[in-house]
Amino acid sequence: MKNTLTIAFSLLFLTHISAQQKSMATLIDEQMNFAKDQYKVLAKNVPADRMPKALKDGKVETSNTKWWCSGFFPGSLLYIYEYTKDAEIKAEAERRLGILEKEKHYTGNHDLGFMMYCSFGNAYRLWQKPEDKRTIDTAAMSLATRYRPSIKVIQSWNSSAKFKCPIIIDNMMNLELLCWVTDNGGDAKFKDIAINHANTTMATHFRPDYSSYHVLDYNLETGKLERKITHQGYADESAWARGQAWGLYGYITMYRFTHDLRYLDLSKNIANFLLNHPNKTADLIPYWDYNAPNIPKALRDASAGSIIASALLELGQYSDDKERTKYVGAAEKMIRSLASSRYRAKKGENGGFLLMHSVGHLTGNSEIDTPLTYADYYFLEALMRYKKWYLKS
Ligand code: GLY
Repeated sequence: MKNTLTIAFSLLFLTHISAQQKSMATLIDEQMNFAKDQYKVLAKNVPADRMPKALKDGKVETSNTKWWCSGFFPGSLLYIYEYTKDAEIKAEAERRLGILEKEKHYTGNHDLGFMMYCSFGNAYRLWQKPEDKRTIDTAAMSLATRYRPSIKVIQSWNSSAKFKCPIIIDNMMNLELLCWVTDNGGDAKFKDIAINHANTTMATHFRPDYSSYHVLDYNLETGKLERKITHQGYADESAWARGQAWGLYGYITMYRFTHDLRYLDLSKNIANFLLNHPNKTADLIPYWDYNAPNIPKALRDASAGSIIASALLELGQYSDDKERTKYVGAAEKMIRSLASSRYRAKKGENGGFLLMHSVGHLTGNSEIDTPLTYADYYFLEALMRYKKWYLKS
């Protein structure tokens, strides 16, 4: 009995080692081909005029196209198409872009970058259709209506009973749309707005340890910053994992467009905060909040893991050899974790989403330990970035 157990454990160990030793080329190929089949399952679970959102009671929850995540499904389909050239996936991407296009006029919040650039930005990158560029340009104009020159920020959400003029760290993710439009023949004002927003956020949102607050609330009449608080994190002074991820991704993107070394330094400082954190996990997929009260039993957030992995890969592009090894090595570890059975769903399960175990808004009792469209999107992006930048062809 003892011998049988020893052999069983040795085999398990060897299987584990050989899985660890799988080349990134093989892993990426397997994950992208899995995504091709799995997203056909997801597409069947989502009505033609809706977008996938999460999984609730075993069923795919969907949203209309005004939901901040509406760009991620078409964007993910485009990454899958880019890799696999599968005609069915391409047709699905085109159908979903078709229902999203009208949101280029949306001005109800700051999420236009997520919605219209993760989708149409990728479509234009692949196909250069003039009508897609016009959609992106219009979306930038819609987003710019939310710029508040007196405080040099884009207002994230409208004023409400809870907030006056809230600016959330997530907003850093909408700046890529603005920078891209200016750099591709558009008005210089869009990039100016993005730079002003990034500079204000750099000066106000970060703590001395380079973690960031979630929400800053301003009084628009006086221009005064009144509160530094959280909406989705554990506490006002905690480090909500996805917020840290948005900050890292946002600043490395801003460095790509501006070559402003202050943005690169901030990105490195955020990355180092995350990679040296005492509550960092062994597989590098973070708890939903770095200060969650029940660590090590706190839930993980695969979406934060995907976003951080993708951002670290870009950070590696602007780093010297030693730092690149650190950032890309961490990203690779995160990708391998996400691709493992701990996070990656089995074929046909999970409603058709790729990844399990994300947290949307725990304190709001919504989207807890569920798949989320953006976890999948940034996972696919990380796979594609790794292939483009770090695989020897
Ligand atoms: N931007 C909203 C979120 O990260 O949940």
